[in-house]
Amino acid sequence: MKIGICNDHAGVEYKNAISDFLRGRGIEVVNFGTDSTDSIDYPDVAHPLAEAVESGAVDCGIALCGTGNGMAITLNHHQGIRAGLAWDDEIAALVKQHNNANVLVLPARFISCGKAVRLTGIWLDEEFQGGRHLRRIEKIPIH
Ligand code: RB5
Repeated sequence: MKIGICNDHAGVEYKNAISDFLRGRGIEVVNFGTDSTDSIDYPDVAHPLAEAVESGAVDCGIALCGTGNGMAITLNHHQGIRAGLAWDDEIAALVKQHNNANVLVLPARFISCGKAVRLTGIWLDEEFQGGRHLRRIEKIPIH
């Protein structure tokens, strides 16, 4: 499995911790984010991640910014992306079970680094439930 990860200046430490966790699980990590705490604009790293997920260059993605909203809003402009923001265990599970989020978005300034790693593991291990949830996500794209 190959996962793309992107972050702005608010998420550098979190990106590194999540990347170590993923590599520890034998997952290849592709870094689309900044490695500096100098301020950047989140769309500059969100769009390349979205394109990699849409093209299949990576299987799925993780995105981090201060609130998570800048990343989620940008990523969800892409037709092939379902980016879901999670800040607790149950939402991290539901965003896969119900929404089949192919990018997990985490709010680095509002959760601890350890929690961000835990939520990543929950989202990864959960399964999409299909059924009525498949019908719903199929209605999301605007044709
Ligand atoms: C950066 O200060 C901040 O705006 C960004 O990380 C994010 O929260 C935007 O949605």
